[in-house]
Amino acid sequence: MCSYKLSTILATALVAGTALAQRGPDLGVVATSEQIAEWDRSIGPDGTGLPEGSGTAAAGAAIFAAKCAACHGVDGEGTINDRLVGGQGTIGAERPIKTIGSYWPYATTIFDYVRRAMPYLTPHTLTDDEAYALTAHLLHENGIIGLDDVIDAESLANVAMPNRDNFVRRDGVD
Ligand code: HEC
Repeated sequence: MCSYKLSTILATALVAGTALAQRGPDLGVVATSEQIAEWDRSIGPDGTGLPEGSGTAAAGAAIFAAKCAACHGVDGEGTINDRLVGGQGTIGAERPIKTIGSYWPYATTIFDYVRRAMPYLTPHTLTDDEAYALTAHLLHENGIIGLDDVIDAESLANVAMPNRDNFVRRDGVD
């Protein structure tokens, strides 16, 4: 009798457990299509997905001073957070200085990253024009483009990064 009751309880618990597992943990809410669109905007290395808009280093300097310098230094030299400027030619050295200018193979990634993740405490607040201008500023500070070069979807994809050719596949595939 007693063992019958126990098995009944166990069976009831099992059914309840299965029902819970099917329902899921009930955490969070379903993301809206607007929320998904806000994050679903990756830029390919070749510039696929880059939006309309443009900017120059001249315009980006003021935005950088206001929104970025506190953490990255007035000249991008790095303070409490990453250094963003310099280090070109040191990647093969014993102590390489890896920055977005010396190390990253694609300029398009700078736009993607900055628009997606910066400023660190308030991401997704930059307009596309601001992100283009900041990208231009960082490229200019790294000696890669001129002060008044216009950076947009087309020109950004054509920027040649100094370390680009040092990314090679070990399996020999081009
Ligand atoms: C509150 C501090 C803060 C501010 C303001 C800020 N950043 Fe950052 N930034 C960070 C931190 C922290 C990281 C590293 C994040 C990580 O590794 O996950 C970072 C990383 C970066 C990187 C990548 C560096 C690398 O070598 O990987 C770039 C580029 C960058 N920030 C650009 C900007 C720009 C442009 C702005 C202004 C719009 C900005 N940041 C504002 C804190 C900040």
